[in-house]
Amino acid sequence: MMLVSIGCGAADDPETDPGTTPETETGTGGEKDDGTVDIGIVLPTKDEPRWVQDETRFQEALADTDYSVEILFSQGSSAKEKENVESLLTKGIDVLIICPHDGDGAAAAADAAAAEGVTVISYDRLITGTDAVDYYVTFDSVSVGAAQGQYLIDQSKGTGNPLYLYAGAASDNNAFLFFEGAWSVLQPKIADGTFEIINSAAAVGLQDKAELTRDEMSSIIGQVTTNWDFNEAKNKAETHLTAAGADKKGDVYILAPNDGTARSIADTFATDSDVSSYVITGQDAEKASIQYIIDGKQSMTVFKDVRTLVKDSIDMAVSVLKGDMPGTTGAYDNKVKEVPAKQTEVITVDQKNVKAALIDSGYYEASEFTGLE
Ligand code: BGC
Repeated sequence: MMLVSIGCGAADDPETDPGTTPETETGTGGEKDDGTVDIGIVLPTKDEPRWVQDETRFQEALADTDYSVEILFSQGSSAKEKENVESLLTKGIDVLIICPHDGDGAAAAADAAAAEGVTVISYDRLITGTDAVDYYVTFDSVSVGAAQGQYLIDQSKGTGNPLYLYAGAASDNNAFLFFEGAWSVLQPKIADGTFEIINSAAAVGLQDKAELTRDEMSSIIGQVTTNWDFNEAKNKAETHLTAAGADKKGDVYILAPNDGTARSIADTFATDSDVSSYVITGQDAEKASIQYIIDGKQSMTVFKDVRTLVKDSIDMAVSVLKGDMPGTTGAYDNKVKEVPAKQTEVITVDQKNVKAALIDSGYYEASEFTGLE
């Protein structure tokens, strides 16, 4: 595997061109001349554009750093993730920035890092069930779900609107936070008859409860999980449409947890002749979904500016390396401790503000899309 250096000495190294980055399970890496690394970064998978985007933003942000950094991908496997962490530990990292594939499953990797005195920063997803997490850098995930739910409410008309619910992977703590946020706004509108839940008996059974326990959310998520997988999302949507009668279709409302699953679910609903229109949510502002929004195939996305998350986690890591105390703005319960956290706000994006939010802000280039006004 070819290593691509980031950081120290990177400017003179012909291997620094991100264009030469191989599509490998271990991703890009940079070591100092003595083979050591200061900051290790472990991301969940290259199979979703979201995390490739994070890698790119890390590379951009670290282009001029004097610290050596290596980024590894776990390819949806907790075992691979642990191997990645162990490999970074042998290179002497002082700080580990890690987005777990599975929140509980990553506890052993965090423990291994903590045992070597490494500061562990959980990135975007919280590592749960261990006291070995020092900090958490995240978006406001409850707000993400609330923004999705509110969008569906704002687009609805009258009563009895068919509502199809989908969720992320139960192994990802964020899936619960997104669902909690969505439920907090949707539940009163289900209780008052604005929406009718079509595809989850567990959700129907709980529809009069404003606040759900984690176990109650688990029972719903268990029925409507996409597992963050495009194919699973498509298969679930097909099954739900097959089970639902024509009277449960027409103008439908779909809570899709993120952009990748939204595109799969939207494509599936679009092919059902009994569905006359759909409103569907997403999150991540993935390029493919921005094109879907421009084309009217996805209704909205929640823009999470990865540049901010990357900057916050690097600033935190650098504070640690300098022996300073990183700044935090709150705390998240990881089932064992309250993890000090820095949280970033999110923005709802649809056709109306897509250009202002994503092009005029310099996040993407207009030339990456067609049909932008
Ligand atoms: C992230 C989302 C992402 C999802 C699937 C979540 O933990 O917060 O941005 O779409 O995982 O990878």
